[in-house]
Amino acid sequence: MAIERTFSMIKPDATKRNLTGAITAKLEEAGLSVVASKRVWMSLRQAEAFYAVHKERPFFGELTEFMASGPTVVQVLEGENAVAKNREVMGATNPADAAEGTIRKEFALSIGENSVHGSDAAETAAEEMAFWFAGNEIVG
Ligand code: PPS
Repeated sequence: MAIERTFSMIKPDATKRNLTGAITAKLEEAGLSVVASKRVWMSLRQAEAFYAVHKERPFFGELTEFMASGPTVVQVLEGENAVAKNREVMGATNPADAAEGTIRKEFALSIGENSVHGSDAAETAAEEMAFWFAGNEIVG
């Protein structure tokens, strides 16, 4: 199995409830290593750029305003099959559908305030890492 990297965010609903450590522990327990991490309070403009792929969707305003409503922790995770592994540990987008033991089952409040984001494919992971990190900020 190949070692790969993925991009992850701990969203404002979780940072506000002091869940950064608990969520990071779940990622690490799953075998993912944090090779880059910083806390950012993104602007609405940054949120709109990051989520541009969703700009035609009805929830775009709600999503971007929420992401600009407080601190987020942006991270790069490294490990075997990291993209799929992170998605598995996160659980389904809607916490009502998330499996037992997943981050969203345990911590998410709603489909919008769902505590974490994770890249859905290796190509998007590369784009999302580059959006938030300079190459020399990622230390494996
Ligand atoms: S996914 O995982 O990309 O297939 O999920 P998707 O349903 O396409 O949702 C994309 C992101 O939009 C967020 N979302 C919402 N935010 C606010 N309100 C509503 N109703 C809503 N529905 C979906 C969802 O949390 C996804 O965020 P990210 O950060 O990409 O996980």
